[in-house]
Amino acid sequence: MQNDFPQNQNDSQEKLELKKGLSAALEKKIELLAKLYTEKRISLEEIALVLGLDKKEVNLIFSQKGIIKKKRILVGGGAGFIGSNFIYHLLENYPNYEIVNYDILTYAANIENMSIAEKNPNYKFVQGDIADYEKLEEIAKKGIDAIVNFAAETAVGRSVHGKAADFIHSNVVGTHTLLELVKNYKIQRFIQISTDEVYGTVGLNEDRQFTEDSPFLPNVPYAAAKAGGDMMCRAYFNTYKVPVIVTHCSNNYGSYQHPEKLIPYFIFRAINNQSLPIHGDGLHIRDWIYVRDHCDAVDLILHKGIDGEVYNIGSDNERPTIDIAKIILDLVGRPYSLINHVPDRPGNDRRYSISASKADKDLGWKPMHTFEDAMPKTIQWYQHNIDWVEKIKDKDQDFTNYI
Ligand SMILES: NC(=O)c1ccc[n+]([C@@H]2O[C@H](COP(=O)([O-])OP(=O)(O)OC[C@H]3O[C@@H](n4cnc5c(N)ncnc54)[C@H](O)[C@@H]3O)[C@@H](O)[C@H]2O)c1
Repeated sequence: MQNDFPQNQNDSQEKLELKKGLSAALEKKIELLAKLYTEKRISLEEIALVLGLDKKEVNLIFSQKGIIKKKRILVGGGAGFIGSNFIYHLLENYPNYEIVNYDILTYAANIENMSIAEKNPNYKFVQGDIADYEKLEEIAKKGIDAIVNFAAETAVGRSVHGKAADFIHSNVVGTHTLLELVKNYKIQRFIQISTDEVYGTVGLNEDRQFTEDSPFLPNVPYAAAKAGGDMMCRAYFNTYKVPVIVTHCSNNYGSYQHPEKLIPYFIFRAINNQSLPIHGDGLHIRDWIYVRDHCDAVDLILHKGIDGEVYNIGSDNERPTIDIAKIILDLVGRPYSLINHVPDRPGNDRRYSISASKADKDLGWKPMHTFEDAMPKTIQWYQHNIDWVEKIKDKDQDFTNYI
């Protein structure tokens, strides 16, 4: 068996020299990679591959060396589902970023999601409306390097059966207010998180995917309000060169999602042996992406995206709603007889089909999680956090009216 301990003093000295040589070579490599990174020619993922490290380790080395500069990032809507996952992603990956979570705390928010983040000195919470310019100015005056905006009214059912005006306020007026702030305070980057729903619908048998050039054809008030905000972003880039990037993502699933949304709703109904209401024939198709893959994509776009560009984000994982119900029932161990067809929702799009080939080609982004792995993990998270779901249900008892 090979002995790794030094056999004599000289041997030990040799190993020390070799180590020194190696670390000098590594330093040289890091220096070269840092130059490419500063010139935006290589991503942290690619550097991690070259160095044989994981991205967090590269972040740590680059942060300590001051290659990744200190930044203050305002995350709009960070107490909601995707925003909270994104804040955890940033805190885990960028030890020298300060995060300001700016959220008005609607029914959809859950500040308890942030209890672990609260312990991190790099994390701050400010309660406020993205349509409140003066409140935003208080933060901007202290300096903001970038805004990533998840804040929006997001429940399609509420936009159909509730107050569409709330959607116009947050998704159009709120986005416009943030654009004004970015323009006036010369904030270097603004990422507006949008949805594939702005592109309208694709037929079940149609051989067509949404690209970044597809026309906006929204069919429900939620999608129309998101499209309105996105159009403002386009106009502010073309008119004022505001450094904005818009992303369109497909349906997310994962931890911390409000139980009014399909996957958590079906999970907690199945756990409680209650029926799973399916709109119409259940053949409506959505592309499902694991939320942490979405966060990875937004991270790449934040650091490597080009101002004025639009990026689609999707997982090539199209599934009819009825299949989602069956997968959940199988994983929770309940019979298919719990499936209950109910009348379809007005304006319900038949199918979303999104191509993320531009994000792949330009940024090297690909989803890392398969539905087969991430879906059981998601179900387990809700099973272990059933109190979290119950508390939201108690706080917001009429949410099932909008499903
Ligand atoms: N969930 C999805 O599947 C999905 C898919 C694609 C795109 N998106 C987009 O991603 C973003 C986040 O979605 P989500 O599912 O996490 O939403 P969510 O409803 O879980 O969270 C939205 C958050 O925004 C906050 N908010 C709402 N209006 C606000 C305002 N005026 N000022 C400040 N905060 C406000 C809420 O309090 C909440 O915390 C949205 O813009 C949505 O359109 C979502």
